[in-house]
Amino acid sequence: MVHKRLAFIRTFGCQMNERDTETIRGLLQQEGYGFTDHPEDADLILYNTCCVRENPERKVYGQVGQLQELKAKKPELIIGICGCMPQQQEELPILLERLPHVDLFFGTHNIHRLPELLHRIYATGERVVEILDDGGEPVEGLPALRNNDFKAFVTIMHGCNNFCSYCIVPYVRGRERSRTPEAILEEIRSLADRGVKEVTLLGQNVNSYGKDLKLDVDFADLLELINEVPGIRRIRFTTSHPKDISDKLIRQLGRLEKVCEHLHLPVQAGSNNVLKAMNRRYTREYYLEIVEKVRQEVPGISLTTDIMVGFPGESDADFADTLSLVEKAKFDSAFTFIYSPRKGTPATEMPDQVPEEVKKERIYQLIELQNKVSLELNQALVGTQVEVLVEGVSKSDSQMLTGKTRTAKTVVFPGNQGLIGELVKVKITEAQTWSVVGELI
Ligand code: 5AD
Ligand code: SF4
Repeated sequence: MVHKRLAFIRTFGCQMNERDTETIRGLLQQEGYGFTDHPEDADLILYNTCCVRENPERKVYGQVGQLQELKAKKPELIIGICGCMPQQQEELPILLERLPHVDLFFGTHNIHRLPELLHRIYATGERVVEILDDGGEPVEGLPALRNNDFKAFVTIMHGCNNFCSYCIVPYVRGRERSRTPEAILEEIRSLADRGVKEVTLLGQNVNSYGKDLKLDVDFADLLELINEVPGIRRIRFTTSHPKDISDKLIRQLGRLEKVCEHLHLPVQAGSNNVLKAMNRRYTREYYLEIVEKVRQEVPGISLTTDIMVGFPGESDADFADTLSLVEKAKFDSAFTFIYSPRKGTPATEMPDQVPEEVKKERIYQLIELQNKVSLELNQALVGTQVEVLVEGVSKSDSQMLTGKTRTAKTVVFPGNQGLIGELVKVKITEAQTWSVVGELI
C-alpha cells in the first residue's frame, strides 16, 4: 500500500486566515495529502500565522522552536510557516535565522503556489522561501477543504486601504482588491448546492467592497444579489469600518430577509483624541449616531465590537471616554485587546507609550463593564423565542447542543445530535454572560 502523506496545520488569527487554511487543505488534498491532528504523525507541518499582535507571534516561535527535536528524529519531515508573519518585511529575516529547521516560507499572496513550492523542496531538499510583495488580482478557482458542511466563510475582498496607525494588516495583506460579484455568487451557489445554509462574507473592510472594480456594484448591492441565492438561509459579514457604513447599507440590513440582525462594528476607542491618533477618521459622536440609526432601521439587532486599551497617549480621561461609550452603545459583546506595538506602524514611534500595568488595569475594568452589559442584554432575552442554527455538541456537556441565533448569540440547549446543521426554534430560559440557555420548542 502506498503511504499517504499526512499534513498537520495550525492556524492563528482571524477568519481570513481560517479561510486561507481551507484553501491550503484543498490544495494539499489535491496533492494526495491526508490530515492529522498529531504533529508527530505528520510528513508536513504548516503554521498559518498572524501578526496583528505580539502574543500569537511569540507562540509561533515557541511552538515551531520545539519542533526541532521532531525534525532531528525525522529529517524527511517538512516544516513550513506561511501567512502574515513571513509576509512582514521586518519579521522574515528573524524567522529565517531563529528557526533554522523550517524548510518552507510563503506569504499571504502566493498560497496557490504551495504545490509548486513543495515539489521544489522534494526535488532539491533545500529551504524554499517565496514571498510576493504584491497581491495582484484575486486568484480564482482554487480548491478548498471546508471545516463545516452547513456554514462557510466566503472571502469577498482582500487587503485594506485604511492604515489605522496601530495596524499591520495593510502592510501584509496589501491594498483592497474585490472579487467580482460573479465569482462570489458562483462560490455561494455551489456552497448552497452542497447544503450550506449560512455564509459569512469576509473582508478587512467589507463596506468598501467594489470600490476598486470598474463595476457599479457596492456592498449593499452585493448583499441583495446573495440574498437571492436559493438554499442560503443566513448571510453574515465581517468586518465593517464605521466610516464607510452607508445609509443604503443600513437600509439593506433591515430589508433583506436573509441578512442576519448582527453588526460587528469595531470602535477601537471612545475618546476623540485617541480615535484621531489611531487614524480611524470618525468621532465618538459619529459612531454613536450610526449605532442609533442601525437600531432604528433594524430593531433587535445585536452589535459587537473590537476595543483596544493602552494606545500611546491614552490618558485616564481618554480611557474613561471608552468606558462611557461602552455604557452608551450597549454592545452585546466585545473583543478587547491590549495595544501591542507592531514594527513598521506609525503608532510604534508615538510618544507616551502606556505602561503595561496601566494597560492591564484598564482592560480588566473594560472587561468587567462589558460583561455587565452583556449579561443585562442576555437577561432581556429570557422568555423569547429564537431561531438557532445548531452547530454542534456542547464541549462541557455532551447532552447539550450549541448553536447561534441570527443575532450571533450562542445558545445551549438539550437536544439530539441529529439536529446538527439544522435550523430549530428555541425558547430562552436562562441568561449567562457569554451565552444563553434554552429549550427546543
Ligand atoms: N494591538 C492590539 N490590537 C490590535 N488590533 C489590531 N492591531 C492591533 C494592535 N497593534 C485589534 C483591533 C482590530 C482587531 C482585529 O485587532 O481591535 O479590530
Ligand atoms: Fe487594520 Fe484599520 Fe484595516 Fe482594520 S481597517 S485591517 S484595523 S488598518
